[in-house]
Amino acid sequence: MQPDETPRARHVAIIMDGNGRWAKRRHLPRAIGHQRGVEAVRELVRSLNETSIECLTLYAFSSENWKRPEDEVGDLMNLMRKFVKSDLPEFIANGVKLHILGNWRGLAPDIVEMLEDALERTAGGSRTLAVALNYGSQQEIARAAAKAAAEGEVTTDTIAAHLDTAELPPLDLLIRTSGEVRLSNFLLWQSAYAEMMFVDTLWPDFTPGHLKQALEDFSGRERRYGGR
Ligand code: IPE
Ligand code: IPE
Ligand code: MG
Repeated sequence: MQPDETPRARHVAIIMDGNGRWAKRRHLPRAIGHQRGVEAVRELVRSLNETSIECLTLYAFSSENWKRPEDEVGDLMNLMRKFVKSDLPEFIANGVKLHILGNWRGLAPDIVEMLEDALERTAGGSRTLAVALNYGSQQEIARAAAKAAAEGEVTTDTIAAHLDTAELPPLDLLIRTSGEVRLSNFLLWQSAYAEMMFVDTLWPDFTPGHLKQALEDFSGRERRYGGR
């Protein structure tokens, strides 16, 4: 393979798992684990311009995470409010463009308003941070198929055109932290030919160095798309 043919990951998605276990191991409340998880996100986003990544998609809250106790859901929502408020100026300064996947308009009205504002103010950015919020992939596919049907023919192309990821580059690499080996209703359609990595690191311990290692491993993978 010629050096210029080394595959570079443009779109990386991460299932950020293990905040609870990180806290438990330290005899700390789960909320602290989530807080440290946000700090890991911040460092990762800061490191993006040192990588090939044009779009980083992060699974922040699933449509099934509502099953958690009310106080944990509340902590997660408050962390989101705090994170967007504190980091928005940095996103704008660093050319980070926010994109949101999932049924985020179903979140609390103040969060919807805050996110609408953040989307508008980061629209000029060149690298995308896509956050999956109140996201479930099966629901996303069903929504997209219904829209495609309402407009005419249902094909893989018309469904894809209505997915929340329609304007993002094709998914190259999907990483899940914390040792669990499942997709938990994340990017099922988009993962059709994505490379996958399951790492044991708990999310709060995941650093830009871990991401760089994953990108390096990715560059050694041979993607075939069914060909030979
Ligand atoms: C991931 O960490 C964060 C969210 C799902 C929001 P968890 O809270 O799932 O942590 P574990 O899996 O219990 O360790
Ligand atoms: C997936 O993690 C959702 C997010 C990381 C936001 P979960 O911790 O909710 O997944 P399961 O329940 O272990 O499959
Ligand atoms: Mg988990």
